Amino acid sequence: MVSGKARVAGVIGWPVTHSLSPRLHGWWLAQYRIAGAYIPLPVAPDRLGDAVKGLSALGFRGANVTVPHKESVCGLMSALDDSARRLGAVNTVVIDPDGRCVGRNTDGFGFLENLRTAGGDGDVGAVDRLIASRPTVVLGAGGAARAVVAALTDHGAPLIRVANRTVERTAALIRDLGGPVEAIDWPPGAEVLAEVGLLVNTTSLGMTGQPPLPVALDRLAGDAVVTDLVYAPLETELLKAARQRGNPVVDGLGMLLHQARPGFRAWFGVEPEVTPALRAAVLGHQANDSR
Ligand code: ATR
Repeated sequence: MVSGKARVAGVIGWPVTHSLSPRLHGWWLAQYRIAGAYIPLPVAPDRLGDAVKGLSALGFRGANVTVPHKESVCGLMSALDDSARRLGAVNTVVIDPDGRCVGRNTDGFGFLENLRTAGGDGDVGAVDRLIASRPTVVLGAGGAARAVVAALTDHGAPLIRVANRTVERTAALIRDLGGPVEAIDWPPGAEVLAEVGLLVNTTSLGMTGQPPLPVALDRLAGDAVVTDLVYAPLETELLKAARQRGNPVVDGLGMLLHQARPGFRAWFGVEPEVTPALRAAVLGHQANDSR
């Protein structure tokens, strides 16, 4: 039951019906017994300016921003944090007490937190060491790839090799972000994977209804961590192939859960935790389900 004291936030997208964020934030609100609400906010592209002004006017604490608004919302913010400015994209809006909209980007944070907590068998330092000591291969050069590359650069990755179908997008990523990043062929040859510590898929290939990812893992180093930002299906063909040959794998749902933490904290005042029960709830399963 929502009371008159409820703090309110939501997710702006078009369409927004597919978003898992209401379920995720709703679960945390119930878990921490917070008087609050988090609602889907379908906003057509030509109404985005009105919608952002409306958030502040209606006393919202803020909102998440998803496809197709992440880039266009930047120009509507009163201020941007460093990540949002660098990536040219906002996924979290925090409205301060004066009604100013501050745009943040927590995708890189979510990516790294997920990888570090889920990829090292409980040893957070294990993934850090892999990232810092060996090359990473990133598949894709879109918005998600930018967040991943920036986060890995900041985390001390010595070499990030980016493979993308459209080479101009890789060149633009390298120009905009700098760092130890180089372009490699799409799809990457098997030998490129022999040295890597981390392989990341940021493309939409392997998602339900999309073509498969044309990447062979035959030469992949045995201890390399493989992660896929695609989470539908939860175990993509890439993750399945990696798991079957014994590589550690990290699925993409955790990134979604972790990127939501800073927004929840800013709007509702509690640092929320990512737990197996949360994962199960977001997946629509019971907490004791084996997934
Ligand atoms: P996101 O914000 O999730 O990164 P995006 O910016 O649309 O979304 O990027 C989608 C990524 O998937 C891109 O790297 C895209 O490659 P292109 O830049 O060549 O379009 C990649 N992708 C999508 N469909 C693909 C396909 N059929 N073959 C190869 N790459 C594909």
